[in-house]
Amino acid sequence: MEELLSVVLSTQHSLNGFGFVGVFTLLGVLQLILPEPDRKLLRVPLVLFAGYMIVSAGLLLVSKETNIYLLGSSTALLLVLLSFGRLSFLLVQRVALRTWWSAVPKIFLDIIQGLVYVVVLMVTLRTAGVELDSILTTSAVLTGVIGLSLQETLGNIFAGLSLQAQRPFEIDDWVEVDQRPNLSGTIVEINWRATRILTDDGIELVVPNGALAKVPLHNHTKPTPRTRRSIYVRAPFEVPPSQVHLIVLAALQDVSKILSVPGPSVVTHKFDEYGVLYWCRFYCETFHERWDIESAARDRIWYGFRRAGISIPYPTRVTHIQKHDAADGELAKQAHMRKCRQALGQVDFLKLLSEETLAQLASNIEIRLHGRDETIIRQGDVGDELFILHSGWVLVRVARAGVRAAEVVRLGPGRFFGEMSLMTGELRSATVVAVTDCELVVVGKAAFQEVLQSHAGIVERISHVLGERKGELERHKPSTGIDSSQRGHGKEVLIERIRRFFAL
Ligand code: CMP
Repeated sequence: MEELLSVVLSTQHSLNGFGFVGVFTLLGVLQLILPEPDRKLLRVPLVLFAGYMIVSAGLLLVSKETNIYLLGSSTALLLVLLSFGRLSFLLVQRVALRTWWSAVPKIFLDIIQGLVYVVVLMVTLRTAGVELDSILTTSAVLTGVIGLSLQETLGNIFAGLSLQAQRPFEIDDWVEVDQRPNLSGTIVEINWRATRILTDDGIELVVPNGALAKVPLHNHTKPTPRTRRSIYVRAPFEVPPSQVHLIVLAALQDVSKILSVPGPSVVTHKFDEYGVLYWCRFYCETFHERWDIESAARDRIWYGFRRAGISIPYPTRVTHIQKHDAADGELAKQAHMRKCRQALGQVDFLKLLSEETLAQLASNIEIRLHGRDETIIRQGDVGDELFILHSGWVLVRVARAGVRAAEVVRLGPGRFFGEMSLMTGELRSATVVAVTDCELVVVGKAAFQEVLQSHAGIVERISHVLGERKGELERHKPSTGIDSSQRGHGKEVLIERIRRFFAL
């Protein structure tokens, strides 16, 4: 017995010595080659090594013939070998496989590391004289207990391995677990036990691999990051579907993050007790911005409906009884007139007009709402309306072939635009986009014609503004391809053109 003990101890001593030298050398090498942030990985092996040193020091106080000495020696060996195993793994992972280790899935690295620890444990038990194979084969109870307790863990490991082999998702993919929107997010890590998902709410969700393998999983990043989104809009029965389709499509096309190819589409989805339900479909490539994009789409549709005088039916059974008496109508009309009159009063060249003419003009115009980022006027379109900004800001942008559209100017309350096409009949010379929500007073050609006919002097004032703006546009748009004599913006040429256009 004593002989056996001395053989065991001498084997452990030589392994201890080997482990000590190995750990020391590896710690030195890794300290030198690991970059600063990765050095924290050396903490665990260092703690194990410190444990080894403490246990070894304690052994100096214990007699070699005792069982306590054997236990202490085995513990010291286990600690130094674990430290050595971890350091060797780090060296191989970070140095030898430097070029491609980052491509190796984390789950494989975890499993290799786990195997290293198991081998270390077996070597230590072996050197302590424990016959592992006989324990495992003879003790059915032990085998059963180990098997049962590892059932879940092994299930997760194998599920993780099969997920890695099939690759239904990868790190950074956007997934939705079990068709539950609150369980959607980006994959952060797939390890030997579980998959970590960072949800929309910024919460880290840890789903065991075994559970993940059993539920349906939507990957929104594969095969391409392009996903189709749907929103539903109701319109009253009285409005023709073709009109709703046109408004919805124009609204969707104006949202910058909605893809133009494949373009948006609208389907008349169903008739219900509240009206006609329209299914609006569009594609976007930034899944994480889906709510903002859907919100922008609904905003645009709301403004489009509002301009077309379409009301969204209430999805409730509340009965609205509206009393229309003549006095109410008159009050609303007067408020509208006041607003229009106030807007007209802010425009420089209209200050020439008499109070009576302004009031007459105010009764012939409409107020229109545009939402932020909506295109109000598109360069190259036909147009015969003048817009006066009652509130909000717009920007004027001019495009020329092959160059990104350049911003020319921003206009705020009291400023006007759209006068060039209205006055001369030319195509819209620039694009005007709402920078904020805008309330616009819109003056049509017919209303303006009446004003021009009664106040001929106004043409001169307008031609002055026109000339300045055209000059500015020319600077941003040097090569329009249009003959300069045709584009001429000398005051006389403009006055002549306005007179001809309005048959004055
Ligand atoms: P119109 O050509 O009808 O449509 C585009 C409008 O942008 C144009 O009328 C002007 O009202 C406006 N616009 C173009 N250039 C300028 C500018 N330099 N300053 C202010 N408004 C401009």
